[in-house]
Parts: sequence; C-alpha cells; structure tokens
Amino acid sequence: MYRMHPLIPDDFDFRSVDTDEPTLGPTGFDQLAGPAGAEVLRTNRLVDLLYTFGTMNPGLVCLHNFPKHLQTFRRPDTGTLMDLSATDIVRCRELGVPRYTAFRKLMHLPVPKTFADVTSNKQWAAEMHDVYNGDIDSLDLIPGMFAEDRPDGFAFSDTAFRIFILMASRRLNSDRFFTAHFTDEVYTPEGIKWIENNTMVTVLTRHFPELDPFVGATTNAFAIWERQAGEQTPLLALPEHPRVLHAAVVPVAEGVPPRPAVDGTVEFRPYAEICPDMPIKGLYLPTTFPPTDRASKRLGASGEKAS
Ligand code: HEM
Repeated sequence: MYRMHPLIPDDFDFRSVDTDEPTLGPTGFDQLAGPAGAEVLRTNRLVDLLYTFGTMNPGLVCLHNFPKHLQTFRRPDTGTLMDLSATDIVRCRELGVPRYTAFRKLMHLPVPKTFADVTSNKQWAAEMHDVYNGDIDSLDLIPGMFAEDRPDGFAFSDTAFRIFILMASRRLNSDRFFTAHFTDEVYTPEGIKWIENNTMVTVLTRHFPELDPFVGATTNAFAIWERQAGEQTPLLALPEHPRVLHAAVVPVAEGVPPRPAVDGTVEFRPYAEICPDMPIKGLYLPTTFPPTDRASKRLGASGEKAS
C-alpha cells in the first residue's frame, strides 16, 4: 500500500540557496545513493541541499513513472541487483495482499468490472487488459493504484488514501505521547509551549536562516517552496544523459559477463522459475534498458496539482 517508489525522481537538480545557480547541477539518483550519498553530504553545504529538495517536486505516483535507477537497484547490503518495480508486485503476492478488485471489495469501495473502469487513460487500460489477459481480478494492487485517476489535489490514489487516513490517525491515537500523556506534567509547560509554537518551517529557518525567504513564505514546509526571484533557468533542463546505467558494466549474475548496451531493445530475465503466474515478462536486463526516461513525470508539473 505504501510502496510509492515513483516518488523518487530519476534526476535531481542541485542549486545554491544564494543564487539559484547550479552547484552539482543535474545529478542522477545513482550518483547520490549509497556510499555516493556520504560524499555528496561531505562536499556540499547542507543548506544548498535543503534548498534543492525543498524547491523540487517529487515524482508522480502513477504508471509508467518508475525510477529507472530503482529498476536496476543494487542492494547496498547484499550487492544483489534488483528491479524494485517487479519486487513491489512479487512481495505483495508473496505476502498474500489481495489483488486490486478484491482489495477494493474488502474496503467496501466500488469495484471496477473492466480495466477502463480503473482509469480514464485509454492506453493504460488497454495495456493492463493486455498484460492481465483481460482478467480484471488478476490486476495487482500496486499497478491498479498507480493507474487510478487521482481525486483533484491528491498526490496518490483514493484507494491508498483510505488506508493512509485510517492508519495515520490510528498511529497518533495509539501513542500515549500524543494523547493521554500530552500534558504539562510529562512535557513541562515550557515543552508544550515549544511544541505549539513550532512547525517544520520554524525548525528549518532556526537552523538555516538563509532558507527564510523560501520556506518562510509557506505555512507548510512539505509543500513546494518559493525559489529565488529573478531570472530562473527551468528546473531539470537536463542535458542528454547516458541512457544505459552504471549497472550495464556489472554482470547481472555471478559468472555472466557484462554485455554491451543495445539501445531500443529490451530483454527480460523471465520470472517463470520464481513466480509461474507472473503476468509481466520478468526483470529487465539492465544492459538492455529502454532508452527512454522512465520517470520524468513530477507531481505539480504540467498541470498536475500538488495536495
Ligand atoms: C531512496 C529510495 C528508495 C530505495 C533505494 C528503496 C529501496 C527499497 C528496497 C530495497 C525495498 C525492499 C524490497 C524487498 O522486499 O526486497 C523497499 C521496500 C519498500 N519501500 Fe522502498 N525504497 C526507496 C524509497 C521508498 C519510498 C519513497 C517509499 C514510499 C513513500 C518506499 C516504500 C517502500 C515500502 C512500503 C516497502 C516495503 C517494506 C516492507 O516490505 O516492509 N520506498 N524499498
């Protein structure tokens, strides 16, 4: 339900809080994740990193927007290469998460009868129909939610939102520090005042006064911040970047030599042995990763509304 990996963009656009000029400039997720992340932290001002993240939108949680770097993700713990988009589906099946229609039924929500009932996007409906051989009850929960038309102003599907709202309030209600023990005796009167008079905006601006003109202009630090006024180069005006990822130079399995990248042809490692009823073809072989940008849609961009 909370698997929302499309939130992670493919590329980041690092900028200076002082001038809005590029610091690192456009940078791929693979250059930031794992051990590379420590280097970025060491060599950049934290305030610039915060400005960068505050002024960029997350990826849009929808179909065909899965970050390419997470499709060829190398686990830092085991070194295993994994396709997280497929893993999101496989894990749900392993754990017995109901499929999309069954899930909606259990939630007492209207249950789609056809793929066109799931989404108004005709192409996606046709693709899902094709992938699932026309069997709507086979549709996996995650792709179903990614395909759903989001209510106005929502960042993710209505199906996910129902669970989210239930669990978020339950989590607060079950925590004594938010309920019975949210008192002067436990926190001290000074402590209560401190909580009541602070928000994420005041926390950020107390530590980084340079952020005040940007995050200070909003009441919600989690909404997109103002950017530096004046001439702005568009965010993520990216140069053509290498289409095949770092993973192309590592063997996909022990003893399998790396192969040169082939633009435009995608090969799959079939899942048959692990998951015989898997409707998708299998893992992408990273050496043949499709040349298109897989995760270019951003929340709040091109008419999308942020919540
Ligand atoms: C830095 C980017 C991220 C990386 C590298 C990452 C990586 C992973 C990995 C390796 C797994 C385990 C897959 C398995 O079961 O074998 C996982 C699971 C998961 N991820 Fe992410 N993830 C990222 C961001 C996110 C985001 C932004 C969300 C949601 C907002 C998210 C939600 C989840 C959830 C709910 C699970 C399942 C956890 C569980 O089974 O207990 N992840 N992720």
